[in-house]
Amino acid sequence: MVAEVIKHLPKDAQWATLQGSHQLSIVVTRKNKLVLAILLEDKPTDIPRDWLDSLYNGDELSPEQINGLLEQQPDDAFLLGKVVCSCFGVRENTIKQAIAEGNNTVAGLGKALKCGTNCGSCKTELASLIESTSAVSKPHPKEETTNEYAL
Ligand code: FES
Repeated sequence: MVAEVIKHLPKDAQWATLQGSHQLSIVVTRKNKLVLAILLEDKPTDIPRDWLDSLYNGDELSPEQINGLLEQQPDDAFLLGKVVCSCFGVRENTIKQAIAEGNNTVAGLGKALKCGTNCGSCKTELASLIESTSAVSKPHPKEETTNEYAL
């Protein structure tokens, strides 16, 4: 099957394949953009549709994204969000999780994840994430529950 697919590809296409005992993946790119992904497995899979959409509609694929497609596993960029702190490779969703766990200061995030503790250029974005995540997780005053009932 792989040879049959490859022989019909345009001359400027590049491809990678991975064939295991239970799965076959064929990834085709042109100018490093995804044009075709054939992901077959002998059992039902749970490949997130929005992940595939983001790869088809995104910029050039990174090596990690190509490997993710071949392995049929979403890459860290999809699962954990973009890198916010490049010094320590700390991603957005990891930071949001830490904020939700109570690390709601830049210093607290630095203590928990090291982000912001080297060059400091990510501190503004850390503060923005704290503000936006805290705003989402705090209940609206009218939504706060109480055990008091008006009679
Ligand atoms: S980018 Fe976060 S400390 Fe440098």
